[in-house]
Amino acid sequence: MDYKKLIAKNISEKIELDLETIEKLIEIPPKSDMGDYAFPCFTLAKALRKAPNAISIELAENIAKEGFEKVEAQGPYLNFFVDKACFSKDTIEEVLSKKEIYGSSKIGEGKNIVIDFSSPNIAKPFHVGHLFSTVIGNSLYKMLSFEGYNCIGINHLGDWGTQFGKLICAYKRWCDLTALEKDPIKELLRIYVKFHDEAEKDPSLEAEGRMYFKKLEDGEKEETELWNKFRSLSLIEFENVYKLLGVHFDSFSGESFYNDKMDEVIEEIDKKGLLVESNGAKVVSLEEYNMPPCIIKKSDGATIYATRDLAAAEYRNKTYDFYKNIYVVGSDQILHFKQIFKTLELMGHDYAQKCKHVSFGLVRFSDRKLSTRKGDVIFLEDLLKESIDKTSEIINEKNPQLKDKEKVATTVGVGAMVFTYLKNNREKDIVFDWNEMLSFEGETGPYVQYTYARAKSILRKLGTFEGVADYSLLKSEEEFELIKLLEGFQNAIFMAIEKLEPSILTRYIIDIAKVFNKFYNLHRIKSLEDENLKKARLRLTEAAAQVIKNGLDLIGIEVVEEM
Ligand code: ARG
Repeated sequence: MDYKKLIAKNISEKIELDLETIEKLIEIPPKSDMGDYAFPCFTLAKALRKAPNAISIELAENIAKEGFEKVEAQGPYLNFFVDKACFSKDTIEEVLSKKEIYGSSKIGEGKNIVIDFSSPNIAKPFHVGHLFSTVIGNSLYKMLSFEGYNCIGINHLGDWGTQFGKLICAYKRWCDLTALEKDPIKELLRIYVKFHDEAEKDPSLEAEGRMYFKKLEDGEKEETELWNKFRSLSLIEFENVYKLLGVHFDSFSGESFYNDKMDEVIEEIDKKGLLVESNGAKVVSLEEYNMPPCIIKKSDGATIYATRDLAAAEYRNKTYDFYKNIYVVGSDQILHFKQIFKTLELMGHDYAQKCKHVSFGLVRFSDRKLSTRKGDVIFLEDLLKESIDKTSEIINEKNPQLKDKEKVATTVGVGAMVFTYLKNNREKDIVFDWNEMLSFEGETGPYVQYTYARAKSILRKLGTFEGVADYSLLKSEEEFELIKLLEGFQNAIFMAIEKLEPSILTRYIIDIAKVFNKFYNLHRIKSLEDENLKKARLRLTEAAAQVIKNGLDLIGIEVVEEM
């Protein structure tokens, strides 16, 4: 049962206000002595020409009370205390009958949402920032799909641009083919860094790079073949990471895909009178909006990243007729997306309003400093492996007899990293700290996964109870707190979707795990004489495990049955 809906219906029978508005006004009070739900009466004062306190008193007297222990006026608030037995039964039975679809809905049906995420650059390492984009994008994809939206996950690969001319030049001069075979991205990165070092001494290399890029743009055979080789070698490595993370894309149309779609956009911009010359370049002036111009063509005639993003937005609108077009990209590109969206708006495209940049902070390491220019980068794959190895050590220490140790270490090690990324507000920087991340205590992935495994182990030992238990026996504070949390699962997803902020769901999962552990530590299940109470607690345990599993799945983390 949806209590907010029930309350809204009951209120709407007494006052003239539409259901949706009432439902939006309903709050969850901060303290339990203020009830489980509260309705503030201020908003009605004007329309009803009465004091809010008087309205709440009158409503408390007249409103339907079925399903509630009491409905009470407290100042301007109308407080609802649910009938605990009824609420508990509704909630637990709903979780256990819906199982893996508990919390889902069809509210997004018929709406297409494009999510541009991960989007690493070819011939460059997949770094920690791309992991940030990958896990946020993946989680949004999963949550939105769960609520019925039709998501299109696009990996907008950085696979085009003048740097590929430089890379071809570097390849021809310095590439070690054996090294390339063994560790492609490391070798490509090495020669790319070398190119920059050498070009400082010999500037003619830059012109050579431009020449190769021109050939690539013109589709010449040798250059195209080399580019294809760089691209497919890189994709193989990226795929390893995606496989470990369990991430899927619907399209890998990256920047190169728009090579033949830019002329049309440039023409359109020109026709609309927006294209102006500036120092030899062709730009859209955004001075009026306090932004630097959006560069469409550089002075050498080459298109850039922004040009391709404009073409991509046009293409996505035509192809997917999107309800929303989301870009999960670091906050260093805030200005870039503002310029893109403004340019689309100036071009007269209403869909500019539906484009949204979901930005995120930086990733720092507590124990090392990095400089990409010197080729000093941390490869994500190495980092994930390190996490898995460290988790393995912990498991060997804590539970040496565990079955499938390797599989568990992989799931928990990878999950620990994903969790770290999604646990705080995405705009916040992340400081990487192994000890904190892999700890089985505190707000970590291993802690939540351990909580799940613990619940499952109880259910394995005592057996699940099939059937409706007497939930009125679940009287303790912890039990009811847990049940209330379980009931709030879908609301947590909705809030995370509304703010495009997966951490809202992650925090919710942490809360469930904490309250479950509190419940489990304070209340016996095993040696209970009261069979009925035991049954009710087993059902509650099973429901809590189910919700943790569903929640973790939506942030892209798998559970383990034992650990
Ligand atoms: N490849 C870019 C980078 O690594 C991210 C691309 C994001 N997507 C986009 N449509 N611009 O910074």
